[in-house]
Amino acid sequence: MTAPLDHAAVAAGATEALRVRVRRGDGVQDYAVPRRANQTVLDVVTEIQREQDPTLAYRFACRVGMCGSCGMTVNGRPRWTCRTRVAAVAPEGELLLEPLRNLPVVKDLAVDMEPFFEKWRRAHGFFDPGETPPDDFAAVPPDSPERQEVDAGIECINCGVCYAACDLVAWNPDYLGPAALNRAWTLVNDVRDRGQAARLAAVAGDAGCHSCHSHMSCTEHCPKALQPTFAIAGLKRETGKAALRRLWRRE
Ligand code: SF4
Ligand code: SF4
Ligand code: FES
Repeated sequence: MTAPLDHAAVAAGATEALRVRVRRGDGVQDYAVPRRANQTVLDVVTEIQREQDPTLAYRFACRVGMCGSCGMTVNGRPRWTCRTRVAAVAPEGELLLEPLRNLPVVKDLAVDMEPFFEKWRRAHGFFDPGETPPDDFAAVPPDSPERQEVDAGIECINCGVCYAACDLVAWNPDYLGPAALNRAWTLVNDVRDRGQAARLAAVAGDAGCHSCHSHMSCTEHCPKALQPTFAIAGLKRETGKAALRRLWRRE
């Protein structure tokens, strides 16, 4: 069913209509939305929900590319929608919007992020201060090699776009995935952290960094231009070194 076009909005400045199809469970629903200058995909979804169909479920918070909550599949590709302009992804005026892949759907375009963050926990993706953390703040020189190594990776906004883009997650739902492994790599390079042995063991298992096929889909799709593939390569190196150290200690 196609919802009626808002003719008042068209008269107010929008000259064309976008055809928007939204996956809702097993079906796809059609909407027509006025096309506007500089319109984002999130603007379109919000307009449908506010003006045509209040039952449509989706998620967003900041609208400025900071919170990571607005991920959707747009014409077959995972994207952050608040910073994706319609003109760039739908030159023909047609949008197919679906929930992010590899995550359970709560309703319509809203997915359950719990499995994504559970993998952060499994990858030891949290700061470990050790038993006796110093009282004072530790100084981390901004130009030290470790801090430089993760200068980009710490900007991750947890949007799940890379996770949805990863075929390995689709094939093996147990695989930790690019975001959790990227997070682990930022902590492996944190000179204040005292949980390195446990973290390297956590990411070295069957569903960890060594499963990654290095096919770069996560890196190609990350809206923040981060490079999880290279973070995972770093983890492969460090887990390999840790295994050799264990071997030498036994000899
Ligand atoms: S490089 Fe690794 S983590 Fe990234 S998409 Fe490919 S298999 Fe997944
Ligand atoms: S690595 Fe990029 S795509 Fe993946 S969760 Fe972080 S910001 Fe999103
Ligand atoms: S709404 Fe926050 S990143 Fe898109």
